Amino acid sequence: MKNIIVTGGAGFIGSNFVHYVVNNHPEVNITVLDKLTYAGNRANLAGLPADRVNLVVGDIADAELVDKLVKNADAVVHYAAESHNDNSLIDPSPFIQTNIIGTYTLIEACRKYGVRFHHVSTDEVYGDLPLREDLPGRGEGEGEKFTPESRYQPSSPYSSSKASSDLLVRAWVRSFGLKATISNCSNNYGPYQHIEKFIPRQITNILSGIKPKLYGTGKNVRDWIHTNDHSRAVWTILTKGKIGETYLIGADGEKNNKEVLELILQEMGQPKDAYEMVKDRPGHDLRYAIDSSKLRSELGWEPKFTNFEDGLQDTINWYKDNESWWKDEKAEVEAKYANNGQ
Ligand code: NAD
Ligand code: DAU
Repeated sequence: MKNIIVTGGAGFIGSNFVHYVVNNHPEVNITVLDKLTYAGNRANLAGLPADRVNLVVGDIADAELVDKLVKNADAVVHYAAESHNDNSLIDPSPFIQTNIIGTYTLIEACRKYGVRFHHVSTDEVYGDLPLREDLPGRGEGEGEKFTPESRYQPSSPYSSSKASSDLLVRAWVRSFGLKATISNCSNNYGPYQHIEKFIPRQITNILSGIKPKLYGTGKNVRDWIHTNDHSRAVWTILTKGKIGETYLIGADGEKNNKEVLELILQEMGQPKDAYEMVKDRPGHDLRYAIDSSKLRSELGWEPKFTNFEDGLQDTINWYKDNESWWKDEKAEVEAKYANNGQ
């Protein structure tokens, strides 16, 4: 695998993957295909060797461009997406266009040229799980987790568009022999995450003198994984995964939003209760939890970032040290939230 295309490689997780490949797999050259939407940023790829990383600014739904690039590639690793649930509740249309039509355009080209395809997806396709505290016999056991056999029941326009794209990939494998794998990962944290998302929003709120904002009760649970562990998992699946298979990626990082926010406040030297409770997200998924035993037992992957507090402190430091990366956008992002009562 010498020449790979990374779609969405100028976004949060995609750019972390590009850095990971450049640093760990010297034989691989990367073409990043990215439209540079509000979520894409050239600066995420700054400092990478120009002879190994080439940024093509373009749309994954541009069939002519995609055909030209895929023709000369060994594999496509597909991260590009509209990725934010709150935005999908305001305007679903770009989610349908990019996540469904864009994925369709890529798999058609991969099928034509017999190119290996890895589809990066989300645990949100499985809907949500009950909070452990609401289960009968509360406190006993871990409660149910998502497995590759879990039923698809997405809640939001974002997650339903990702579920649609997963189903397209599965159908292209079965009907056309597309050489594809799929991964569904839980919530990522780490550097280069857009400040609309929960953890960077709260860190940059505190750094800007704005009170952090917690939706609803704050009891909703997310299963946090460091983005570097996600990158290693995707590389493992790309190189060792079995065609047609789905792998769930997670690092046993369940925490409710209130706990995460209190940790951020503590690590940033603020009182534990220095935040505001705001309007809940409509249809807000209660709990995500990943059973990643298939990936661990069949492909030998294990997470390395097992101490969430340390990973969070590194992330806080990254936003402190890279103020110029986020500062110009902060007022606009907060104005959009304020307009929505959040
Ligand atoms: P992001 O919003 O930070 O980045 C998305 C990137 O895709 C941006 O660079 C953007 O410019 C690009 N893009 C958007 N539309 C495009 C188009 N039509 N053509 C080309 N490029 C386009 O997203 P992220 O959080 O890095 O997520 C990346 C992928 O990982 C998504 O597919 C998402 O569903 C999946 N995922 C994310 C998480 C998470 O916690 N963030 C967890 C699991 C899976
Ligand atoms: O599970 C994987 C998914 O994780 C990915 O597929 C998505 O692309 C990614 O955005 C993320 O989705 P979430 O909706 O879980 O992430 P978000 O950062 O938007 O919110 C995390 C939790 O924090 C969620 O329960 C909502 C809550 N929240 C969010 C924001 C922005 C708040 O309480 N306050 C906030 O200000």
